[in-house]
Amino acid sequence: MNILDGKATSIALQEEIAAEVTKVIAAGGKRPHLTAVLIGMDPASRAYVGHKVKACAKAGFESSTIERGKEISQTELLEIVRTLNNDKSVDGFIVQLPLPDHIDATAVIEAIDPRKDVDGFHPLNVGNMSLGLPTFLPATPSGIMTLLKRHGIVTEGMHAVIIGRSDIVGNPMSVLLSRNSEPGNCTVTQCHSRTVDLKSHTLKADILIAAIGKPHFITSDMVKEGAIVIDVGINRISDSTRKSGSRLTGDVDFDNVAQKCSWITPVPGGVGPMTIASLLENTLQASLQNTDGIS
Ligand code: GUN
Repeated sequence: MNILDGKATSIALQEEIAAEVTKVIAAGGKRPHLTAVLIGMDPASRAYVGHKVKACAKAGFESSTIERGKEISQTELLEIVRTLNNDKSVDGFIVQLPLPDHIDATAVIEAIDPRKDVDGFHPLNVGNMSLGLPTFLPATPSGIMTLLKRHGIVTEGMHAVIIGRSDIVGNPMSVLLSRNSEPGNCTVTQCHSRTVDLKSHTLKADILIAAIGKPHFITSDMVKEGAIVIDVGINRISDSTRKSGSRLTGDVDFDNVAQKCSWITPVPGGVGPMTIASLLENTLQASLQNTDGIS
């Protein structure tokens, strides 16, 4: 078994991005600026946004966070989006999901200027991705593709089984892996909560992508010998041996599955850091395309 080292790959990628920013600045260009909109006090969302902001600083980006309580109205949030769309100093922004139940997340995403949609969630960008046209790719699937590529894994002809149908991971992952590209050229099966006999599908997977949100859901009896296993889950479980009383774990029963597979991503240190590096890639791209702010 080999580890798909998301942490090391992400650090390498972020160093390359930082070097690119240094070059852009030296040539009189603009420092990329990412804004994160954070609604409510969800600890996981706060932690993710914190990691994104920290990564921006390391890469030489400017960053800002707009925080509001969970009682914010739809109108107020749409006004924040409109302000960011019109702010020439901001190259890209994200609205951290999930949003409170009373907010129509689709309406919020549709209000984002597609040129600043560095999450790649706007319908126009999703459409471009589906057609294989240049666009911002959603950060988590894009990070997984980079992780495969940078570990020299050739996926052509493989059977990829994706568990999950979210717009953030499952759906775009299925598009990217079935593309005529490398990585890509996979035969993709997409499973979800209504799939009958899930195990019969997972056992056929050369690449298994678990984006379920249930700790240790994928057990070794569900995995084919020699499979590549990508764990997208970030679940907090209680652990009395830790000072905090809890720890993060994935959707995969790592200790047992690792003995069976050829490659596996750890949690933490697998997909999570790659998501952040991909967001920075998108923001740098947005900044290079934004000619408004050049000083
Ligand atoms: N919530 C979980 N993942 C993501 C992501 O990639 N972007 C945003 N905006 N929210 C998320």
